[in-house]
Amino acid sequence: MCGIVGYIGKRNASEVLIDGLRKLEYRGYDSAGIAVFEEEGIKVVKAKGRLDDLEEKMNLVGKPKGSCGIGHTRWATHGEPSDVNSHPHGNSRITLVHNGIIENYLELKERLAAKNYLFESQTDTEVVAKLLDYYYDGNPFETVRKVIENVKGSYAFGIMFADFPNQIFAVRKDSPMIVGLGEGENFIASDVPAILKYTKDYYLIDEDEIVVLEEGGTKIYNLDHELIEKQRHTATWDIEAAEKGGYPHFMLKEIFEQPDALRKTVQPRIKDGLPDLQVDSFTDDLIRKIGKIHIVACGTASYAGMIGKCAIEKLARIPAEVCIASEFRYGDPILKENDLVIVISQSGETADTLAALRLAKKKGIHTMAIVNVVGSSIAREADSIIYTWAGPEIAVASTKAYTVQMSVMYLIALKMALALGTLSEEEVKGYCGTILSLPEKQQQILDQSDTCKYFASRFQNAEHLFYIGRGIDYALSMEGSLKLKEISYIHSEAYAAGELKHGTISLITDNVPVIAVATQENIYEKTISNIKEVTTRGAKVLLVVNDRFEVNEDIANYVLRVPTTDDILIPLLAVIPLQLFAYYTAVLRGCDVDKPRNLAKSVTVE
Ligand code: M6R
Repeated sequence: MCGIVGYIGKRNASEVLIDGLRKLEYRGYDSAGIAVFEEEGIKVVKAKGRLDDLEEKMNLVGKPKGSCGIGHTRWATHGEPSDVNSHPHGNSRITLVHNGIIENYLELKERLAAKNYLFESQTDTEVVAKLLDYYYDGNPFETVRKVIENVKGSYAFGIMFADFPNQIFAVRKDSPMIVGLGEGENFIASDVPAILKYTKDYYLIDEDEIVVLEEGGTKIYNLDHELIEKQRHTATWDIEAAEKGGYPHFMLKEIFEQPDALRKTVQPRIKDGLPDLQVDSFTDDLIRKIGKIHIVACGTASYAGMIGKCAIEKLARIPAEVCIASEFRYGDPILKENDLVIVISQSGETADTLAALRLAKKKGIHTMAIVNVVGSSIAREADSIIYTWAGPEIAVASTKAYTVQMSVMYLIALKMALALGTLSEEEVKGYCGTILSLPEKQQQILDQSDTCKYFASRFQNAEHLFYIGRGIDYALSMEGSLKLKEISYIHSEAYAAGELKHGTISLITDNVPVIAVATQENIYEKTISNIKEVTTRGAKVLLVVNDRFEVNEDIANYVLRVPTTDDILIPLLAVIPLQLFAYYTAVLRGCDVDKPRNLAKSVTVE
C-alpha cells in the first residue's frame, strides 16, 4: 500500500524523502511524488511509475530545494496510476499525502462541488485536500481536527500549510504512521525502515492524536489540544536488516534468514524443554475452557493458520477452523463465550484482519494475535500478543514470516496439549526438542538451493501449474501455489489430492506440470495413487517428499527430498523448497521478484 515520509531538519529534504520512499518501495506502488517548502512556497513534483521516473522528472523540472517536505508512493485505489492522480494533492496553501481510503469521499465531493470547488483527479485524497482548504482559517490544528471529524474510512495524512513552513502535521486512523526522532531533525513515516538511516528512535501515533512535527521537536496533541506524553520506542534492528546484504533480492535473503528467524522465535519460548509463551492471560484454566478456536488471517498468514489448525486438532484435540479475514468480518461468524480467536499477521496492519479482531473483541471473545511488526495496530489491540521475531520482511512474498507463524502455532498447540493432558510432558518435551533442532535442517535444505533452481528451470515455461497434497500437505500446497503465482505470474492452483478427480483432472493433459507434496506417512500411499492418476494422463510431476519414504523411480519425473522429522512438524522444512522453486522460477522468467505487479506488502485497505 501507499508509503509516506515527511522530513524537517537541516538536510536536503528532496534527498531524504526519496531515500525514505525507496525504503518503503516494498509496500508496493505505481506512482510517487514529493512536496518541499521552498522560499517561494511549496513545490510539488509527482510522476506515474517508479521512483526513478520521479527522479528523472525532478531532473527536468528542477529538484525542490528546502529542508522540510513530505513524500508519497501511491498504490492506486481511486483512479488509475497517473501523474495527476499521484500525491501530494492540494494547492498553494495546503499540500497533503494520504495512505488509506476515504469511504465518504463522493458525498464530501458533492458538498465541496456545491461550494464551487473543482477537481482534477479521480482520487479520494484530492477531496480531503479540498476539505482542508475549505476549513482552513489560519489555524492548522483546528482545520485538521474538523477534517477528521468529517471523513470516514482509513487514513494516515501528512499535511503542510504554506503559512507554517516550519511544521508538518500528521494524523492517522487504521493506517500506520510513526514519528522518527532525530537530533535536530524529525520524520514521519509509514514504517521504520524509512527512518533507520537517520535514527532508531520513534513514537507510535495513536488514533485521535494530531502530530506537529518541527525541526527542534515533535508535539503530539489529543483532539482537545492537550499535549500527550508518548513512549519512545527504539528499533531493535539496524539498517542492514532492511537491506539486501549481498543477495540479489530481499525474497532470497529472507528465505535464507529462516533458520535464524526460527531460532529467535522459539528458543526464548521453550523453558526446561516445555513451551512457555510468556502470555499471562493464556492460562491452563483458559485453555481448558476453550470451546472452539477460530484462526483468522489473510493470504500466507492464513495458510500458516491452516497448519496451526492441523497441529491443534491433532495434538490438543480442540476443534479449530481457519477463516479468511475478509469473509469472517462480514460472515456473521458464530462465536461462543469460551471460544478463542487467533489472528495472524506479519504486518499487524492488514485491514481485514484488524477488522476481524475488532469484531471478535466486540463480541467479548478472547483474542490472541501472532504478529511480526512490534507496536502495529493488531499487536496493540489484541488481548494477548505473541510476537514472531523474524526481523523486517521486505519482499512482498512472505517467506520467513510464514515459518515463524507456524512455529508459534506449534507452541500454542503443544501448550494446549499439555494443559489438556492429550500429550504427556515427555511427549511435549520431545516435540519441543525437535522444533529446536529444525533450524539446522532448514540450513541443510538451503545449502542445496541449486537443486530447486534446476527444477525451476524445468518448469519455468509453464502457463498453468497444479499443486496437490492431502491434509497438512494440502495446506503446504496452498502456500506453494500462492508463492509461485504471486511472483512468477504462472497460473497455479492447489488441490486436495483426492479432490482432483471430481472435476479438475480434466485439465491434466500431456506435460501439464504438477507439484505433488507427500510428507505424511498416514496418507502417503493415498497421495501416490493420486499422483498415478495424473501421470497416467501425461502430467509432468515434481514430487516433494519426506526423505524417509521409499519412492519408486517411475512415480514422478523429478523428486525433491526433504529431511525427515516428526510428520506434524515437517512444514517448517518442506515449505523451503517450495519457496525456492517459486523464487527461481520467477527469476528465470525475468519477473520483478520483490515487487510483483499489482501487489502491496501491507494491505491496509479492504
Ligand atoms: O501482513 P499480513 O501477514 O497480514 O499479510 C497477509 C497477506 O497479505 C500476505 O501474507 C500475502 O498473502 C503475501 N503477499 C503472500 O506472500
